Amino acid sequence: MATATTNGPRVRVALDGLSETLLWTLYHRAMEARRPDAVLDDPMAVELLDAIDYPFERRFGKGDMGSAQGQALRARTFDQEVQAFLRTHPEGTVVALGEGLETQFWRVDNGSVHWLSVDRPEVIELRRRLLPGDERVRLIACSALDEEWMDGLDASHGVLVTAQGLLMYLQPAEVRRLIARCAERLPGGELVLDAVPRWFSAQTVKGRVKTREGYVAPPMPWGMDASERWKLHGAHPNIVEVRDLSLVRGRGFFYTHLAPRAHLIPVVRKRRPSITVIRFGPG
Ligand SMILES: C[S@@+](CC[C@H](N)C(=O)[O-])C[C@H]1O[C@@H](n2cnc3c(N)ncnc32)[C@H](O)[C@@H]1O
Repeated sequence: MATATTNGPRVRVALDGLSETLLWTLYHRAMEARRPDAVLDDPMAVELLDAIDYPFERRFGKGDMGSAQGQALRARTFDQEVQAFLRTHPEGTVVALGEGLETQFWRVDNGSVHWLSVDRPEVIELRRRLLPGDERVRLIACSALDEEWMDGLDASHGVLVTAQGLLMYLQPAEVRRLIARCAERLPGGELVLDAVPRWFSAQTVKGRVKTREGYVAPPMPWGMDASERWKLHGAHPNIVEVRDLSLVRGRGFFYTHLAPRAHLIPVVRKRRPSITVIRFGPG
């Protein structure tokens, strides 16, 4: 599936703050997908990267550090959860909150899934310009915190909400409220989210997470240590399960042996980035 700009002129993209972070994740996924031994099959991400006029390397570096593989493995871990959901809910709805320029729909499409992509207006506009439309994909320009995206959601075939690389940018009270509203309004649904540990969140708030090239990651005020995940149960009484997802296995010693077992390694297990699935009861 070609992007809307295949063979056309490159599209100049000027984003800043939270919106610019989507270029960081796209860049790393695409750099990984471009490798012959890639852990993520994502030709569309590579096409997107080539279609965008933005100084990726000057801003983010060469993209060949472990973080490219790490971002790709995070995306694949989310993919696997979406695919598991679609096996039991083939006509279900996936809501991708803060979707940026993720191309997950094309990686997991089973021919009948319904997709709702939610992001800030300037990002939705970019998705419209750069990615092909599909009758099963709906784009909503609103904040994930705005319940507009829940209104009119067809939950009759099941709903899975993803928040990949989003919640860390919100305030802790906003994260709790969002989870509670999902639990209340999406009975029988699930939410998959990732979190940075508290120590990392604190570093970003101090402006200390930066590339050698001078890009400073925006503050990530919401941090959650993997060891305190159980507290998410308290967000709403309709939360019936909170479980950890291990990162899928990748390439090299770290991503083959250590990262997928991080939940078993003392000290690391509490202070690692984590991916969590929250399941809501029937209401
Ligand atoms: C790090 S990017 C992740 C993008 C994509 N999910 C991925 O993994 O590549 C964060 C995304 O969250 C979006 N975002 C930030 N705050 C948001 C909010 N309150 N509501 C919806 N989207 C938001 C940004 O515009 C951006 O697209």
